[in-house]
Amino acid sequence: MNNTTKKEVKKAILSFPDTGESYEMPVLEGSVGPKAIDVRRLYTDTGYFTYDPGFTSTASCESGLTYIDGEAGILSHRGYKIEDLAAGSTYLEVCYLLLYGELPDKKRFEEFVHHVTYHSLVHEQIHYFFRGFRRDAHPMSVMVGAVGALSAFYHDSLDIDDLEQRELAAYRLLAKMPTLAAMAYKYSIGQPFTYPRNELSYAENFLHMTFSVPSETYDVNPVLARAMDKILILHADHEQNASTSTVRLAGSSRANPFACIASGIASLWGPAHGGANEAVLDMLTEIGSPNRIPEFIERAKNKDDPFRLMGFGHRVYKNYDPRAQVMREACHEVLSELGIENEPLLDLAMQLEKIALEDEYFVERKLFPNVDFYSGIILKAMGFPTSMFTVLFALSRSVGWIAQWKEMIEEPTQKIGRPRQLYTGPAPRHYVPMTERGIEIP
Ligand code: SDX
Repeated sequence: MNNTTKKEVKKAILSFPDTGESYEMPVLEGSVGPKAIDVRRLYTDTGYFTYDPGFTSTASCESGLTYIDGEAGILSHRGYKIEDLAAGSTYLEVCYLLLYGELPDKKRFEEFVHHVTYHSLVHEQIHYFFRGFRRDAHPMSVMVGAVGALSAFYHDSLDIDDLEQRELAAYRLLAKMPTLAAMAYKYSIGQPFTYPRNELSYAENFLHMTFSVPSETYDVNPVLARAMDKILILHADHEQNASTSTVRLAGSSRANPFACIASGIASLWGPAHGGANEAVLDMLTEIGSPNRIPEFIERAKNKDDPFRLMGFGHRVYKNYDPRAQVMREACHEVLSELGIENEPLLDLAMQLEKIALEDEYFVERKLFPNVDFYSGIILKAMGFPTSMFTVLFALSRSVGWIAQWKEMIEEPTQKIGRPRQLYTGPAPRHYVPMTERGIEIP
């Protein structure tokens, strides 16, 4: 694997003019992107913490998986640009690349696909686990529960210190996420579960498990399968986003991989993160028609209004999210394949994008469409209900979470993540016992 080892390139000096003290810190350089000031010894040596609640200026780890240049709108996995992977690769090849660092040759790829294919069934007992949920439970609540419960079934892939068990857990998670996602959908609409079929590709299998019914044959549309696979590629990994950081923090306590991925699903569910694709569709439906766009643009700019333009803005991208560009092209392909000449929601989205990108408020803050802006429109056209959109995001992102978790576990200096705080609570004070305050102790 051709990773670069981080190296110290110069020193940074922290000085306190009031006391004349100064403190030297190493400056580290990776292979590309911003350098980092190494503050690991800052508290030990000076008694000071750094303060960065949203981690806007904090590198929580070193990683060789994904690189994002937010200003230029660049995203790459192990050095390969997302646009090239979306155009020429498959989701399972991108999974292999993220997990092993290099593109596979034919033999290795076939072996990898075989492993994933033959782990796609879930333990039959899990079917009964699903029965405990209400039918109208949000599919993400089912996914958090079902994925976490995998650790109750697969005890031979829980030992994180055993390379073979880590690999087996990775295969099981990759293979079973589509099966569980399809089961969550089937359960929500009262249809029977459909078993995976080994002769189908990963995306074909997922569409088959989701949309086929026992009473008739279901032929997967190859254009939709390709679009599904591309959507999975686009969401696979994205550096240290909120859900990936959640998985890393959970994994740093040496929790088992299934529990860690379940924590990632929980974090992704939020509308500020992976839940945005569902929120975009709800927003477009609420806007309803182009003549209401100005009203919602004004609401998005109003600090007293909690409304945000969902699918817009990003902590890292201050340019167009490259995934949104690919997603918009895929949108047109899917709609034309389905013979949907004019999809009102797509027209509305494109008009909303145009107006927002000409508005000073969005231009000044470099707010562009992100990966979630167009994805919902495609998924709706393919037949998924909005409640399944974030489930699909979680399905795709599971490889990113697993690869980041694996990279962290295999990092020789890995230790439990334990941030500190800037305490602003009450100063020490005397405690008066309850009985002296007239309160009986039961
Ligand atoms: C994902 O991290 C990742 O990589 C995530 C992700 C991945 O692949 O894992 O890319 C997936 O989560 C994409 C983002 C999906 N979320 C949304 O589309 C929700 C809408 N977007 C916003 O909530 C927001 O843009 C965030 C949460 C995405 C980013 O928030 P930040 O980085 O904390 O930025 P901010 O809130 O500090 O905003 C800076 C300014 C503020 O205005 P001022 O205080 O400077 O006047 O921009 C404004 C914000 O009010 N702003 C918006 C806005 N997003 C930011 N105003 C209106 N609409 C928006 N969408």
